[in-house]
Amino acid sequence: MANARISGLGAYVPEKVYDNAYMESIVDTSDEWIIRRTGIEKRHISADDEYTTDMGTKAAEAALKDAGISAEEIDMIIFATVTPDYFTPSCACVVQGRIGAKNAMAIDYNAACSSFVVGLIMAQQFISSGAYKNVLVISADALSKATDYKDRATCVLFGDAAGAAVVTATDEPGIISFDMGADGTGAGSITSLAFRNDTEELEKRIGGKKETIWMAGQAVMKFAVKAMADSSQRALDKAGLTYDDIALVVPHQANYRIVDSAIKRMGISEDKVILTIQKYGNTSASCIPVALCEAVETGKVKKGDKIVLVGFGGGLTYAACVLQM
Ligand code: ACO
Repeated sequence: MANARISGLGAYVPEKVYDNAYMESIVDTSDEWIIRRTGIEKRHISADDEYTTDMGTKAAEAALKDAGISAEEIDMIIFATVTPDYFTPSCACVVQGRIGAKNAMAIDYNAACSSFVVGLIMAQQFISSGAYKNVLVISADALSKATDYKDRATCVLFGDAAGAAVVTATDEPGIISFDMGADGTGAGSITSLAFRNDTEELEKRIGGKKETIWMAGQAVMKFAVKAMADSSQRALDKAGLTYDDIALVVPHQANYRIVDSAIKRMGISEDKVILTIQKYGNTSASCIPVALCEAVETGKVKKGDKIVLVGFGGGLTYAACVLQM
């Protein structure tokens, strides 16, 4: 049982919506600019008293239900977020307690928007080593709580959501190959401050709150296109596959233009890609599981299909994997 496959998927998106008309009412922007430059029409926003762990718990419960296993069968929970409820306890421990996964070790990790793919890869390592049978991978972010709503260059982009997957030991094919990496020389391209006192960083934030996300949009865009296309290609090469073998590519949904340029570099057409950016905006690491859930629910992906998941994010980081559903 050396293979690891996704045996269950879950997603959660909060009810409240900020559409582009609302964004026009709070910053100097327009529906036309946002759609032309990003592809985003609306984003879902957590309630004031709804936090990352609340959304993560809902996605985790849905993934467990989909996998048809109980929480007690989970050996490990790995939770990715850049907007944790607390520095300690970890979001993973909070969710572990809530869902009753009493046999699971629980830890948080952070590869920003690449985290869901990184999480699947880490789960695969624990499973293929024989250490664990079921690993619950959760990605959740309440980005709205870390958004500077005075900064039009970022606030139109972000939304809130959660996604989760149960990764299970199996004899069947599952995660076939992966590629991942980081470029810390780009660490300053996307920032959100914790304890560090950094006057220069603080001055970039129009709203003045240090935990809000600041981004060098153009630099990130340039990194993202190359990182996603090249990482996917390396993962495909390791699997001995080409895009002809792939039913669907699920990219991180940061900006329609990034996805569009990346798929041109990959040499594939848009019908091989799922896009959810118009409905949810950039919800950080949960973009990929939310889109994958939708692909399964709408029949875009069926059991046995080979797919590519590919993300990039703060750090800077990137990760891709080829897997069979
Ligand atoms: N409405 C109207 N005008 C705007 C807005 C807005 N919402 N935002 C910026 N502008 C203006 C700028 O001020 C600038 O005006 P100027 O020419 O007068 O100076 C002009 O539009 C062009 O700005 P650019 O920054 O060059 O616009 P660009 O085409 O690069 O789009 C964007 C900006 C959407 C942020 C883009 O760079 C992007 O998507 N970058 C990548 C973001 C990303 O992928 N982030 C991922 C990580 S996020 C995370 O980890 C949680």
